Amino acid sequence: MRNKWIVSLNDYRLASRKKLPKMISDYLEGGALDEITLKANEAQLNRLQLRQRSMIDVANIDTSTTVLGQNIDLPLMVSPMGMLTIFHPGSDPAVARAAVRAGTIFIHSAWAGCSLEEVMKVAPEHLWAQMAFWKDEAETHRYVQRARNAGVKTLVVAGDVGSSSKRERDLHHGLSMPPRPPVLDYFNTATRPEWVWRWLTGRKMTYGNYNIDGRPLRMSEMNSWMAENKNASANWDDFAKLRSEWSGKLVIKGIMDAEDAARAVDEGADGIFVSNHGGRQFDSQPATIDVLPSIVHAVAGRAEIYIDGGIRRGHDVAKAVSLGATAALAGRPFAYALATGGEAAVEKAFTIFRDEFKGAMGFVGKTSVSHLDESVFVDTRSPAKAEIYI
Ligand SMILES: Cc1cc2nc3c(=O)[nH]c(=O)nc-3n(C[C@H](O)[C@H](O)[C@H](O)COP(=O)(O)O)c2cc1C
Repeated sequence: MRNKWIVSLNDYRLASRKKLPKMISDYLEGGALDEITLKANEAQLNRLQLRQRSMIDVANIDTSTTVLGQNIDLPLMVSPMGMLTIFHPGSDPAVARAAVRAGTIFIHSAWAGCSLEEVMKVAPEHLWAQMAFWKDEAETHRYVQRARNAGVKTLVVAGDVGSSSKRERDLHHGLSMPPRPPVLDYFNTATRPEWVWRWLTGRKMTYGNYNIDGRPLRMSEMNSWMAENKNASANWDDFAKLRSEWSGKLVIKGIMDAEDAARAVDEGADGIFVSNHGGRQFDSQPATIDVLPSIVHAVAGRAEIYIDGGIRRGHDVAKAVSLGATAALAGRPFAYALATGGEAAVEKAFTIFRDEFKGAMGFVGKTSVSHLDESVFVDTRSPAKAEIYI
């Protein structure tokens, strides 16, 4: 599908399938085990019905808000995603530049293909940096120091990567490091010449955020690097230590439980990022939108709350904010756009989200993000009575 015919994020999903080899689009779209949580994220958002209001002046709708003291034009940011280079050589800088133009924030993954410093150059005021606790504490501190030196103001801790996931689509495609795809995948890849051309001529596929001997870590070295450095023991003590050494803002990603959210706030988190990794890590856990209310309750205004997982429409952004999130984030939709048409397509993805969000705000009769609250929902819990929140 040509970029000009694309009118929704789902169109980008379908278009990206035509651009990417099946093993890569499966890697992008897939989730853990039976993908129950992956599907639940979208399904549970879709279950929430919005309440249309009529005859309200919605001529001037302001979609802007603030996150951690910074103004953004839309309560939607980009979730951290590793290895964006595999979808398009524009990689992180392309998405970051589009986020800057959309007036919002890009979160650079700890597993990115591009270095933090490279992306900071194109989005110095619009980048949050994800970090992980590595086994070698010195490596973790080095990264925090790099972030500090680069001028990063907000660190996002990966809080849900201690255990390993099992993504069966990837296993069927032999997507290990280095990849060992079955022969059918070679045939399928040959039907995607544009991707193959970019792979051969574009940005080198590396884990460019880390160095060995002064050069970026090669993909083929990632497995052994991970085996050496992955830290399944990371815990709240590490978070507390980080809090004492990092004077900037601190967000923790991968919180799915009210008790953990309260603990994170007690440990000094400025932001709680409700996320089940888009259903990619641990299957059979709830949809993020379903745990959001309990987390909002537990946090009780002591920190900001962000949420991702299944955000595919501006309407979903409205639903998340109305349930108490400061902002929503999306992962796959921006990667679909990147794979389809690089930076221009990511920029268009933001425009689509913004237009839909603004439309949703108008229909629920709200002209400011701060006015979005539970009153926008039809109470679907008791449809027989068709009760409405008032
Ligand atoms: C290709 C891909 C790579 C990802 N890499 C990371 C990562 O490096 N760090 C991380 O915390 N989450 C990662 N995630 C999860 C996203 O940050 C985000 O939580 C998830 O995509 C949100 O769900 P959505 O895709 O339905 O919007 C990745 C997701 C995808 C699709």
